[in-house]
Amino acid sequence: MEVNLAKTAGFCFGVRRAVDKVYEEAGKEQVYTYGPIIHNSEVVSDLEQRGIKVLHSREELEKISEGTVIIRSHGVAKDIYELIRQKGLHLVDATCPFVLKIHRIVEKASAEGKQILIIGSAEHPEVEGIRGWCSKDVHVISDAEGLSEIDLGCKPTCVVSQTTFNYNKFQDIVEIIKEKSYHIEVCNTICNATEERQLEAKSIAHDVDAMIVIGDRQSSNSQKLYEISKKECGNTFFVQTLKDLDLKLFESTGKVGITAGASTPEKIIKEVHASMTEKSFEQLLEESLVTIRNG
Ligand code: F3S
Repeated sequence: MEVNLAKTAGFCFGVRRAVDKVYEEAGKEQVYTYGPIIHNSEVVSDLEQRGIKVLHSREELEKISEGTVIIRSHGVAKDIYELIRQKGLHLVDATCPFVLKIHRIVEKASAEGKQILIIGSAEHPEVEGIRGWCSKDVHVISDAEGLSEIDLGCKPTCVVSQTTFNYNKFQDIVEIIKEKSYHIEVCNTICNATEERQLEAKSIAHDVDAMIVIGDRQSSNSQKLYEISKKECGNTFFVQTLKDLDLKLFESTGKVGITAGASTPEKIIKEVHASMTEKSFEQLLEESLVTIRNG
């Protein structure tokens, strides 16, 4: 079997930086992360065992009176920073610099009186965080249909995207917006790591008989990799760990591709990769029988 493992599979720069910061802080004093540090249950439970607690909401943050609060790579709204400071808690900001850049863009555009249009998923914590840096005039859409609700004709508008949004989908929506509006500032804030990972997944999936996408079910960027791969290769599987993979399904597969979302630990990728490259006992036995038969 030929196995093609994507070079871009796994932690991106922002996630690696955030996870490293949490491990650096572990054991110093009571440490909290504001939301799970990454969308990966394996990593989150390892951190729990090291005494790191997850705050799931502003209300939970309000209840604590001491310790360190780590902001994850997704970033948070301005009022969360204010609350952490008011309470005198120690703040460690692991917001990805690419997300911080979006906060600065929308804050400035809002101050200039522009309405903000975020292209992304309204429920995603990164988008909630971005919203929290805008004035009230903000809209979130995830597809072109959402545009019908927004007045684009006369108001100056600043368009940004969730960092993990699909690049082609973003471009299609922007084309439609440009036809409707003259007062528009478009900032393509899709992260290169996402774009590169998506393009590589597409190209590998196009060329293989089966594709494996490794990621946590909560991870939106992993799910997008699955969607992209599935379009190119009907035989695409989404797994969280090696345990979810039925190796029998790949016994007669010629070429397999593997990619993984930005929050997938290297250990899990290596395990899945090894399971595909290491031949099973049955395969080895079959090959040696063929050699014996052929003399
Ligand atoms: Fe940052 Fe891009 Fe990763 S925005 S968290 S480097 S996907």
